[in-house]
Amino acid sequence: MDLFRTKTVEQSISDTEVKEHRLRRDLGALDLVVFGVGVIIGTGIFVLTGQVAREKAGPAVAISFVLAAVVCGLAALCYAEFSSTVPVAGSAYTFSYATLGEFPAWIIGWDLILELALGAAVVAVGWSGYLDSLLASAGIRLPDELLNPPGQNGGVVNVPAVLVVLAVTAVLVAGVKISARVNTAVVAIKVAIVLLVIFAGLFFVKGENYRPFIPPQQPNESVKGAAAPLIQVLFGIHPVSFGWLGIFAAVSIVFFAYIGFDIVATAAEEARRPQRDLPIGLIGSLIVTAVLYAAVSLVVVGMQHYTELSVAAPLADAFKAVGHPAFATVISIGAVAGLTTVVLILLLGQSRVFFAMSRDGLLPGWLSVVHPRFGTPYRSTIILGSVVAVLAGLIPLAKLAELVNIGTLFAFLVVAIGVMVLRRTRPDLPRAFRTPLVPLVPVLAVLACLFVMLNLPVETWYRFLAWMVVGAVVYFVYGRSHSRVGRSRNRV
Ligand code: ALA
Repeated sequence: MDLFRTKTVEQSISDTEVKEHRLRRDLGALDLVVFGVGVIIGTGIFVLTGQVAREKAGPAVAISFVLAAVVCGLAALCYAEFSSTVPVAGSAYTFSYATLGEFPAWIIGWDLILELALGAAVVAVGWSGYLDSLLASAGIRLPDELLNPPGQNGGVVNVPAVLVVLAVTAVLVAGVKISARVNTAVVAIKVAIVLLVIFAGLFFVKGENYRPFIPPQQPNESVKGAAAPLIQVLFGIHPVSFGWLGIFAAVSIVFFAYIGFDIVATAAEEARRPQRDLPIGLIGSLIVTAVLYAAVSLVVVGMQHYTELSVAAPLADAFKAVGHPAFATVISIGAVAGLTTVVLILLLGQSRVFFAMSRDGLLPGWLSVVHPRFGTPYRSTIILGSVVAVLAGLIPLAKLAELVNIGTLFAFLVVAIGVMVLRRTRPDLPRAFRTPLVPLVPVLAVLACLFVMLNLPVETWYRFLAWMVVGAVVYFVYGRSHSRVGRSRNRV
């Protein structure tokens, strides 16, 4: 059936050799780890830690971070095999095109657009909040109208969020090497800030703040109807917080903090030695961030009782609470710098997925023409950057992070299935990295992703399904008849 027509792995690789569609290969293993850490550390640790500790997990938020890392680690082991076998732009989209077929690949590509575009918008709004707090410390107050989306605190448009997205888009159009350099500098600052929180914060940790480490489960009256996690609805449990169910619900949110390691795979086409460098980039960046997150969250819940953590800027505010506002200012500066790189890499990943889909004819081909001087897919970058800027300026984002997570988990799940399929259908392909213990690891990855997805609210599932239905309509109206794979078959 043509819905499941596949693009061969050889065809995917040879497409990257066509001159006008070729990206420059100039990223090494270290660039990729930096690239990964650059996108992974962001709103998740800087903003969500406080909210999740307060509302869902208490000091046990550190357990949630570790569990989320395990889920991502299983997915990363699958990603690493795929990305080292099919080293072309497009990540899970390309992998599923080579294995599961065109329609599943389209669905995944569409899903990745959700992850990356909304993810960039979420982080841009977080950036805007930190900028506001920095300006406020300097005595400068921007009006609420220019800091909030419509319908929130009298907002009209979130101007700083729009501006940061547009500025980052301009950097991306100018070329990967420039943005990788900018990124390296900012990532260094961000890691330094995280280490500062850990080591300076240790001096203010109080043992009693850890008791009880896992607060007992309690009903959560503020969660009603479709806002409850699907798993609690399925099992007829009245919405609860804390306890182990709270820890699991927290996993489904702090998962956002790890989003980005998969984007290293989208840079496959720009890696010098993808077979060796990609697995190092993926797994290396995940290990580094998991260790940092566990340490930061333990320190922060030790500095302040979880019921008192701030929701907007928990890392900085914990230092204010122990009487060190100067540290708080330094941390806020680092957050502003750090979140900029996250927006940058999310947008970069997104434009590459879009690029790959248009090169395959599933989206209009003029989008994938590479800039003659900069060597970047400038058209898709500019168009998507503009859309993300509008989203960041106009949409309130609290619930959107959950939507980003469900889309990403779904992509991970399909990649894990794809690893198993490809082992059967193309056992002959050279694999620079082989997922250990197949099928155990991919099966565990699928189950883990599914479990985290079930812990997301019912309304998030509805929104996700709606996005997917729209995607299916676009495919049947455009992609199916324009697909290059489909057209070349029809000619034969
Ligand atoms: N992991 C990234 C963040 O936390 C997306 O901001």
